[in-house]
Amino acid sequence: MAISLKGRDFLTLKDFKPEEIEYLVNLAATLKEKKKNGILTKDALHGKNIVLIFEKTSTRTRCSFEVAGHDLGMEVTYLDPAGSQIGKKESIADTARVLGRMYDGIEYRGFGQEIVEELARYADVPVWNGLTNEYHPTQMLADLLTIKEQLGRLKGVKLTYMGDARYNMGNSLMIACAKMGMHFTACAPKAYFPNEKLIEECMEYAKESGATLSFEEDVMKGTEGADVIYTDVWVSMGEPENVWKERIDALLPYQVTMDVMKNGADDVIFLHCLPSYHDRKTTIGKKVGETFGLNELEVTDEVFESSYSRVFEEAENRMHTIKAMMAATLGAFEEEK
Ligand code: CP
Ligand code: NVA
Repeated sequence: MAISLKGRDFLTLKDFKPEEIEYLVNLAATLKEKKKNGILTKDALHGKNIVLIFEKTSTRTRCSFEVAGHDLGMEVTYLDPAGSQIGKKESIADTARVLGRMYDGIEYRGFGQEIVEELARYADVPVWNGLTNEYHPTQMLADLLTIKEQLGRLKGVKLTYMGDARYNMGNSLMIACAKMGMHFTACAPKAYFPNEKLIEECMEYAKESGATLSFEEDVMKGTEGADVIYTDVWVSMGEPENVWKERIDALLPYQVTMDVMKNGADDVIFLHCLPSYHDRKTTIGKKVGETFGLNELEVTDEVFESSYSRVFEEAENRMHTIKAMMAATLGAFEEEK
């Protein structure tokens, strides 16, 4: 049966069937090809308007929604962390009912998943999660497209996530792998493994898809033969500065180094959602680096700049996949894959 995602929210990949996720990845590949060939898609959603609410900062996600929106012929409103009444003078439910009457789609980046869920409950238009503390589903579409492009397959791919696997990236990668029949390993100290409830849910998806999930404290065991080695910052947006010390103490052994990469499969690739502290060329990277005597944090500069690294291909794919996700939920290109 033909797949239609028209009218759906995009809050977490938990809500989507593997074939629906595959449909979005394939549609993104088609739209990427069109863009590379100079084929315009401005008629697709011409006349529609979308609003982007960012309660946390962003480079990739914001720019992807804006460029993708324009490429699809839409007008885009951006609300920055200080630029709206949301949460401060107006409840989420009221905001949703106002914006839902003006816009055809609403993106939200912010704190708890319950906020984006409440927006979705009260707005009559698709609501898209641009990152919450718990999940980062649009990043997953980009990662899946990148893995498919780079390795030629998703099913059976062995992905190891190193670092804080309890937060949005670890959670989302575990869900994505479980849905798509991939082999997920969280390689971290036990206290940094995803929560039991989510693991149980993902075990159910894995039964259907043939995925496996494992949790490994030993770096060499956890990365042996991996096709994809993935990491993220050790302290996420919204977390207090004073957690850096405990994170560095716990996670430094899980830094992605050349030795870690060499322990992967012959054609292993390195991915990172970005931004990354791989040198001291950022304010935070410099400050944390000076305080703790480190030049690089979750990944070495050598790995980041090496031929293993596909992080910029991955970043580009944010735009193509967000375009596919918006197009599908707003009902464009239903005949294409
Ligand atoms: N990967 C990602 O979400 O990047 P931004 O924070 O720049 O949007
Ligand atoms: N875990 C990071 C991801 C950034 C894309 C954060 O939430 O800050």
